[in-house]
Amino acid sequence: MTEFPTATRLGTIVSTDSGPNVMEFSFVLEGGPREIIAHRGEFISVVTDAGTVIARVQDFVRTNRYYQHAEAVREYQSRGEPLRSIFPTDRWQYTVAKARVLGLWSDGRTIRPYFAVSPGAVVRRVDEDILASFLKLDLEKGLHLGRLAYQNLDFAPSLDRLLSKHLAILAMSGAGKSYFVSVLLEELLSRPKDSGRLSVVVIDVHGEYTYLKDITPESLGLPKGQFEIEHIRGSHFQIPVQMLSAEAIGALVSDMSSIQVRDLRRVVSEMKNVLKEGYTLSDVVEYVQNDEKISKNTREALSGWLINLDETGLFGKEAVPSIKTVVRPGKITLIDLSDFISLKKKQIIVSYLANELLYLRRREMIPPFLLVLEEAHQFCPESRHELALPKSRIETIAREGRKFYALLCLISQRPVKLSTTVLSQCSNQAILRCTNPYDLDHIGKSSEGIDRSSLDAITTLEIGESLFVGETVSVPTFVKIRQRKFEPTGVIKSLSEAVKKSDK
Ligand SMILES: Nc1ncnc2c1ncn2[C@@H]1O[C@H](COP(=O)(O)OP(=O)(O)OP(=O)(O)O)[C@@H](O)[C@H]1O
Ligand SMILES: [Mg+2]
Repeated sequence: MTEFPTATRLGTIVSTDSGPNVMEFSFVLEGGPREIIAHRGEFISVVTDAGTVIARVQDFVRTNRYYQHAEAVREYQSRGEPLRSIFPTDRWQYTVAKARVLGLWSDGRTIRPYFAVSPGAVVRRVDEDILASFLKLDLEKGLHLGRLAYQNLDFAPSLDRLLSKHLAILAMSGAGKSYFVSVLLEELLSRPKDSGRLSVVVIDVHGEYTYLKDITPESLGLPKGQFEIEHIRGSHFQIPVQMLSAEAIGALVSDMSSIQVRDLRRVVSEMKNVLKEGYTLSDVVEYVQNDEKISKNTREALSGWLINLDETGLFGKEAVPSIKTVVRPGKITLIDLSDFISLKKKQIIVSYLANELLYLRRREMIPPFLLVLEEAHQFCPESRHELALPKSRIETIAREGRKFYALLCLISQRPVKLSTTVLSQCSNQAILRCTNPYDLDHIGKSSEGIDRSSLDAITTLEIGESLFVGETVSVPTFVKIRQRKFEPTGVIKSLSEAVKKSDK
């Protein structure tokens, strides 16, 4: 990785038609004509009497007066004599950088900029300590997720800044979302007990976090019992029928009528009184079929719905696992849904879990938790036409969960398909490479802190680079996510590897 010397001079502020003004200035870069000493997105500083102005490079313009007149350039070109061979063109090439002011750092705090910097003032690389404080990073106790792009500084936001509001991780496929989640989980696992450990439930749609179950605290050089990882296969999951109200069952069947729900409510309440030990869905079907008070049509319809639900194999007498054991400080529970092809089954599990988690957390029966939801657009889509059993539950957590630390981390490769209600509640966003114009537009509209220039830069990000917006950092910040400490084994990384393996 390139080391960037601090406090080096980058250039001198120039006077232009519109600036310097309070929010913007331009400066001419130092260095030779072919040297690149600053990068778009880099933080820079200008020391003034009132404090250090911190700004960010937005764009560059290169000029050379020898190439200003197309007809002259063309003339020399047609003669076969490049201008360079006749005139000292290199000496006249210079680069003007445009910068946007982010804040004024004065006496250890940020104040709103209230004056314009002076033409002639020197622009320098920003001092790393100042930048860390300015961005509100916590290098000591924060989560070490990567490094700032172009700066010699660890990106270590505090747990509070990154996670005390919902987080959305958005990017196109293959940009590094899941990789980033693995890094985040590694950091959460390494948190010492006295700093407070969060409990995490991961809805692992593709089973790509299963490898984590082999990590032990000792292998990370941590004390025994520092953390616990449990892997639960979706096919082992069981939802206790007696915990479900008629409405909850109704919600799992998208078009149950109100009459059917009313009859079912009575059946459920009678069964709860009689069968204290619990019951299965087939018990409910039997009860419904023998219940003379329900009309024949309703009886048939209800039985049909319930048999369909029972066939998913997801329901039983007891809860497996018990939600209270799933959520514990320092524990990551991986709910592996990769066994299921049916979207409906995945949705039923997510719907049940989201409901239970919020219910128990509201009553303080479980500690604060983070629910990580991969492929979030499949579970809370914007479109009303898609099957979306957990949508309202997730929207409820999104709206209300923050107050009692029932937190969401939503991951999506199609932000445009994700419910806007949910997305707008995600005060923190990590946006990795994304090129789809519809998705970009949606991201731009749903996050307040993002400007046009940052939005443009998202299309040019590399794999594993992310823009953090929201409460995590004081201004949008580009970060290179660090490498994982633990690599999954046996993962096929490319098509050529896959065909080689199958061709043995
Ligand atoms: N920070 C990183 N450092 C090194 N390699 C990375 C990083 N981020 C991503 N990669 C590489 O890119 C690959 C794809 O990343 P990942 O699986 O996280 O993509 P994704 O955004 O989750 O895609 P999808 O939407 O398809 O799930 C990883 O397997 C890894 O090889
Ligand atoms: Mg992924």
